[in-house]
Amino acid sequence: MPTPDQLKTVRGVTLRRDPAREPCFTVVQLHKDLHDYDDMSDVSRRQRLHRHMHNEMQTLEIVAQSLADFPDAPWELRMQLARQCWDETRHSAILYRRLLAMGGRKGEFPVMNYEWGVTQLLDSLPARLAVQNRTFEGGEMDLLRQQEHMWSEVGDEDTAALMDALLADEVQHVRYANRWLKQMARENARTLLQVAVGIQLLKKITEGLAPEQGEVNAVGVNLTEFTHVEVITNTTDRKLAEFTDKELAELLRKEGFGSLVPSPTEAA
Ligand SMILES: [Fe+2]
Ligand SMILES: [Fe+2]
Repeated sequence: MPTPDQLKTVRGVTLRRDPAREPCFTVVQLHKDLHDYDDMSDVSRRQRLHRHMHNEMQTLEIVAQSLADFPDAPWELRMQLARQCWDETRHSAILYRRLLAMGGRKGEFPVMNYEWGVTQLLDSLPARLAVQNRTFEGGEMDLLRQQEHMWSEVGDEDTAALMDALLADEVQHVRYANRWLKQMARENARTLLQVAVGIQLLKKITEGLAPEQGEVNAVGVNLTEFTHVEVITNTTDRKLAEFTDKELAELLRKEGFGSLVPSPTEAA
């Protein structure tokens, strides 16, 4: 578990302190301090790539930290974590190149280490896989498919193709986590408890840091209107990542698409 000097408090919520960043980056603590635009203007395009690039860097750090923190995990699982580090490194580099090609630069927009702050409070590998791979990267699969369409609609087929390529890797990151969590749960009932601890902590932090009704970010976008409409569950890719039908149904219900989910009798 982190020592007190490794922790920080944001709006009364305890999180792991930020990882080191080059001086060019401005690190912020709340979504409202990010420059998320709700359009596809030039500056918004650069900001999207910049935020995505930083997110991939952060994922690399989270996964590499798991390799360091859990040396006794099964070798094959450690190999998966190592392969994921390689993928996330490539993703960061690809997005950085694209950002430069669009006239952007590293540090052009504020960045936030939210995923790091949450996952690094968790002291078991099952909890980290549940929160980082299954939840954060599971959510990223939805976002990437949607982003692919957004870039394509504005005529940038190169960036759209990039989103599709990254998505193929993210499916694999969610899938191996699902497989290992299932196997570990079969072998040790404590795994489910560890997963539950992770999900509960994430829920508590998300609620604690959720934007207040009508809260506006640094570039004037209303945060309570912005986040939700954006993401629609990408069912096909989630199936590829081996969520069960029941888990998919649960996800869809949570996002307000319950009418699409067959009732248990229909499904049988
Ligand atoms: Fe990635
Ligand atoms: Fe990933």
